[in-house]
Amino acid sequence: MPELGVNIDHVATLRQARQTYEPDPVWAAALVELGGADCITLHLREDRRHILDRDLRVLRETVTVKLNLEMACAEEVLDIACRTRPDQATLVPERRQEVTTEGGLDIVGQQDRVTAVSRRLQQAGIRVSLFLDPDLCQIEVAAELGADAVELHTGQYALAKPGAAQQRELATLIVAGARIRELGMTLHAGHGLTYRNVGPVAVIEGMHELNIGHSIIARAVMVGLEKAVRQMKRLVS
Ligand code: PXP
Repeated sequence: MPELGVNIDHVATLRQARQTYEPDPVWAAALVELGGADCITLHLREDRRHILDRDLRVLRETVTVKLNLEMACAEEVLDIACRTRPDQATLVPERRQEVTTEGGLDIVGQQDRVTAVSRRLQQAGIRVSLFLDPDLCQIEVAAELGADAVELHTGQYALAKPGAAQQRELATLIVAGARIRELGMTLHAGHGLTYRNVGPVAVIEGMHELNIGHSIIARAVMVGLEKAVRQMKRLVS
């Protein structure tokens, strides 16, 4: 059974919309743990558009399950990661204008840099996962540079029309997942997974960790909104 990592970035996005103190991703992480998550995932972006340095610091002290930091191969955030020591770092590409992480990391094109960053993280006791498209060339390089895990980008699967197109994307994920495990790395997956499409990915042989953000936070708004309005209605009347 795969572990569930919950990405709490959207909670911080909502807070930053007003640059206030609520909702606090630290509080959210506690509720996520109470809900049974096995891992708290957050992305400290270079532009600090949602998660802030303080969030990572406090979460490192308060989270009792695995803490997974998504990060670019950038020097500043690498220093912060090595100081803060999350249990795991997931290396992702980062472009300033993107709405979310749009594709996997191209490690074929920057093997030396990714190797150097991975080494520093591993020397600090942090497991390294690489967020990759389900591309066998990228996966071979991940093994060569000593990654502990690969997180397969499930975006194409999530975007594909249910039916033959989605089955093709699923087959690609299955082949990539098998190769990752053959090469001795741990298999993770994430991006675009929802209550509707997660099932077939969760049962891929050897799937160890799924990271899901948007769909869970979106669902939380819907299942929590009625209660929140009732509480305010009581106060105003
Ligand atoms: N995994 C990685 C590496 C990501 O960058 C993201 C998005 O931040 C996710 C998983 C979660 O994606 P989603 O929000 O679409 O569930």
